[in-house]
Amino acid sequence: MSRLPLMAGNWKMNLNHVEATNVVQKLAWTLSDYHYDKKKSEAAVIVPFTNLRTVQTLIQGDRYSLGFGAQDVSVYDAGAYTGEVSAGMLAKLDCTYVVVGHSERREYHGETDEVINAKAKKVIENSMTPIICVGEKLDIRQEGTHVDYVLNQVDGVLAGLTAEQVGALVIAYEPVWAIGTGEVATPQDAQEVCGAIRARVSDLVGAEAADSVRIQYGGSVKSSNVVEIMAQGDVDGALVGGASLDPEEFARIVTFYAR
Ligand code: 13P
Repeated sequence: MSRLPLMAGNWKMNLNHVEATNVVQKLAWTLSDYHYDKKKSEAAVIVPFTNLRTVQTLIQGDRYSLGFGAQDVSVYDAGAYTGEVSAGMLAKLDCTYVVVGHSERREYHGETDEVINAKAKKVIENSMTPIICVGEKLDIRQEGTHVDYVLNQVDGVLAGLTAEQVGALVIAYEPVWAIGTGEVATPQDAQEVCGAIRARVSDLVGAEAADSVRIQYGGSVKSSNVVEIMAQGDVDGALVGGASLDPEEFARIVTFYAR
């Protein structure tokens, strides 16, 4: 099975909807200049809720080869949950992807594996693809228990999902110590954990799902390190933060296969 690499730009809480228009247009033009081939990688932008309608209209209107999605979702379907956004609302905006369980949601909003599992289920029920994030903090890495720690997260976030559901989703391994720090994990570090995640998926739901699930690496990915990271057998893409805000840099990351 050949897995199409997914290069997703997580904008986090950056760019208003006017700025988003400029960045998405420039990204599309730059990808075209670089002869982007959507058979070699898939590109998506993961934007703030307030940008979704603008980004949807632009991408669909101009037929850009770009996916888009949201950074979080509610565990509830509807009702008195002030400030929340439901999976149904995101599906109505034609989101392809929804990131769930980002380490910043875990850290600043107390999200647990159980909550993240519930969010992933809502995304799947609404025919979108969750990008489920896992990853260890520095203390766990220094202890040397990072593989077990991450596999425990994987067990929690995938609980109750079928083999077919798991095979179609995306898992992002983002070591927290490498996020926004410039401290990139070595390609071997990324492969160690991504390979272990795939083996765990095989144990949990079978070899077929393990073969098709896409596993991304995230943490200080740039055009200067993406080629080496993507050369690892179990790394099927990147979840890119800071570097995705610069359309030229992100376009170079998306077209990593050409270098
Ligand atoms: P940086 O690429 O800025 O390190 O962020 C990674 C990340 O958290 C993507 O979700």
